[in-house]
Amino acid sequence: MTSPGKYKIAQIAGDGIGPEVIGEARKIADHSGKKHGFEIEWKDYPFGASHYLKTGEILPETAIKEMEDMDAILLGAIGDPRVKPGILERGILLTLRFHFDMYTNLRPAKKYPRVPIPIRMPEDKILDILVVRENTEDLYMGMGCASDGPISYEMNIKRGLYELSGKLDLKLTPSTPSAVQLGIASEKGVRRITARACREADSRGLQTFTLASKSNAMPQLYGFWEEVASDEAEKHGMEMKMVNVDALCYHLVRNPWEYGVILCPNLFGDIVSDLLAGLAGGLGVAAGANIGDRLGMYEPIHGSAPDIAGKGMANPVAAILSASLMLSSIGENEAAGDIESAVSAYLQESDDEDLPVELGGNATPEKAGQLILERIL
Ligand code: NAD
Ligand code: IPM
Ligand code: MN
Repeated sequence: MTSPGKYKIAQIAGDGIGPEVIGEARKIADHSGKKHGFEIEWKDYPFGASHYLKTGEILPETAIKEMEDMDAILLGAIGDPRVKPGILERGILLTLRFHFDMYTNLRPAKKYPRVPIPIRMPEDKILDILVVRENTEDLYMGMGCASDGPISYEMNIKRGLYELSGKLDLKLTPSTPSAVQLGIASEKGVRRITARACREADSRGLQTFTLASKSNAMPQLYGFWEEVASDEAEKHGMEMKMVNVDALCYHLVRNPWEYGVILCPNLFGDIVSDLLAGLAGGLGVAAGANIGDRLGMYEPIHGSAPDIAGKGMANPVAAILSASLMLSSIGENEAAGDIESAVSAYLQESDDEDLPVELGGNATPEKAGQLILERIL
């Protein structure tokens, strides 16, 4: 932090609907600051598809260095159909998660009042789940390649916990073009995220959490996960229930109210959190926080939604709730709580047409943002 009550925050609005939703989140964070006595100094970064296509630059080292002195990053979304998938997503989003060792990805899935959901919920149940996603390992390591012939792949990968180097030599006989992608789990990596899941469960008054696994098909990777995570859970006095991720998806669609905290390896966490966003009312209400021991990055879990970009159809609630997670992480808990209450009130009290298109109304992101802001001032 620069000085008390003053924060430096990096804004990467990004691609597609990113700028539309981040604009609203930023406005609300600024006004909350005025109300609660803090000030945000924003540093705007242009990274994303347009910047890349214009300049060839993805995410320069100088920008990462600058961010090292900041309090948080607020990000919209990265990815554009004009750019080959992976270039910007890995080059910006994943690079930041890895560089700052943001090993925890918290993805709450909460049903807000009046938000229509695709399943029938018993009156006495609530849908309030937290996905605790491991955010630096698994199949996201970036270990892999495609080859027309034998695979000979040298890797040198840096993570907060270790450096990974080595060479992979594989040959298919008879030869055929092929591709490989490797996943890894380290004991320290599994322990620290499991510890986080235990703390999150504890803070929700739970004695148990669920691990999304798949040790029946991938016993090496996810069998290791189960062993290490269950040992860590035991140390925290928490019960850990192991469920294969396929069955978990089935159960989540049928009775999500049975779940509280779900711990996921990186890839399963990505998938399960989108599934839960769909169940809880939409990607447009699903916020996310990437957290490590240094600065964090706060972003809606949705992408750049090129199908609706520029059409006034984006729901900014996820971005606004991500800003609330950001404020609570930098210690502005009252402001954060205020934003959550304002969102709840907006969703509960608004006329149907004042809701975002995703929720059945016709409010543009600006209109939705304005209606939330009015409940904060
Ligand atoms: P997506 O999340 O962008 O969209 C999936 C569906 O949800 C689309 O129909 C979209 O219109 C809808 N949707 C998403 N956010 C919405 C919102 N706020 N309001 C209303 N509707 C919303 O996923 P995708 O289509 O698979 O990906 C599009 C691009 O975004 C790709 O380039 C992908 O790599 C990238 N992506 C980026 C992030 C990120 O930056 N964090 C996350 C996911 C996907
Ligand atoms: C997300 C996204 C990213 C991920 C992509 C864009 C790399 O889907 O934040 O959920 O897979 O983590
Ligand atoms: Mn995703």
